[in-house]
Amino acid sequence: MAIESGGDPTSAPGLSTLGVHAGAEPGKPGDPVVPAIVQSATFFGGRRDDGLLYTRYGNNPIQLQVGRKVAALEGAEAAVVLGSGMGAIAATVLSLTEAGDHIVAARDLYGATRVLFEHELPRRGISTTFVDPEAPGAWRRALRKRTRMLYLEAPTNPTLRVPDPRTAAAAAQARGIPVVMDATFATPVNLRPLELGVDIVVHSATKYLGGHSDIIGGVVAGPASAIDAATEMMKLYGAAADPHMVWLLDRGLRTLDVRVRRHNANALAVARYLDGRREVRRVLYPGLQSHPDHARARELMPAGAGGMVSFVVRGGGGAADRFVDALRLVQVAPSLGGVESLISQPRYTSHKGLSAAVRRELGIPDGFLRLSVGIEDADDLVADLGSALDRLSRPGRR
Ligand SMILES: Cc1ncc(COP(=O)(O)O)c(C=O)c1O
Repeated sequence: MAIESGGDPTSAPGLSTLGVHAGAEPGKPGDPVVPAIVQSATFFGGRRDDGLLYTRYGNNPIQLQVGRKVAALEGAEAAVVLGSGMGAIAATVLSLTEAGDHIVAARDLYGATRVLFEHELPRRGISTTFVDPEAPGAWRRALRKRTRMLYLEAPTNPTLRVPDPRTAAAAAQARGIPVVMDATFATPVNLRPLELGVDIVVHSATKYLGGHSDIIGGVVAGPASAIDAATEMMKLYGAAADPHMVWLLDRGLRTLDVRVRRHNANALAVARYLDGRREVRRVLYPGLQSHPDHARARELMPAGAGGMVSFVVRGGGGAADRFVDALRLVQVAPSLGGVESLISQPRYTSHKGLSAAVRRELGIPDGFLRLSVGIEDADDLVADLGSALDRLSRPGRR
């Protein structure tokens, strides 16, 4: 019997089981245990009327199989795999809106998503109002006659805020419009958006779902009608996924649950350690009591607060530069969610285009570091971070 989620929650398989098995057809003797990559753009078609198979359409066998696995992991009716996270977001938004329509989005968004909403969609006649999701009634107040969707992310980049999707869902339900949520930083292990009233969940599969920093991919999960509509946009705008990438994504999904639990544990250990160091002015981790959304994270993310830890070193940008130069195990690179620990400074990456003053207002002063905690041994990570911090407090150094 093929393994899927849904139905009676008491008998539904767990996430590790789904990550390994969901979506696969039952095997017969002689079949490979590992799914085959069908590296073919097109397929022989006869006179049978069962639809054209073409890899850009998203119906290559591995695309369909991994789509079913992602749907099972999210507890969704259906899912589609696309060529990137931005492809997933764009296909979803384009499927829900047309010229003259309006979107309400939380103000803290991944940089490219913000640019899409703020600069690109207006060129197509679609406008967006950005709201502070913590402001009471903000979602409801921003609704207009032609509002077609609400959009949010959690945890956010790089301050790791955890807005409550239930507030957005309450506003959206009153109007019968969908809530779309980017849960890339959370993964289905840590956050269950569809159980919190979200209608459509998107991920950059480049991050935790793939988990090894070796693919660019995206997914959309939700009701079958919404996935069909997003798939249609994927076909027309050409955001389809390559079969080999999808195969690698499947390989990543097999270990998603164990990896994310290790990321959670390591990140908590690292956050606690950094919190105790005098060279560190502030640690932002939803798993620490000092985080503004700690209580909400405990409620909505019971398995763990994720693998991302942000912190600010004393001494500003110069100190942050010296700190990262002194790291030996943790590597300096953008992106996140892979098995290896990566660190970046938003002032050089995601928030490069903003002035230092604007970044400060957003809670990202110079000296701010964003750490994607990998699955190495926590003691080794702490030792590396600790010795780099020691360098900051040596005599003669600021
Ligand atoms: C939260 C979030 N959403 C979407 C994306 C875009 O994903 P991709 O690079 O796979 O297009 C990213 C990339 O960093 C991200 O961090």
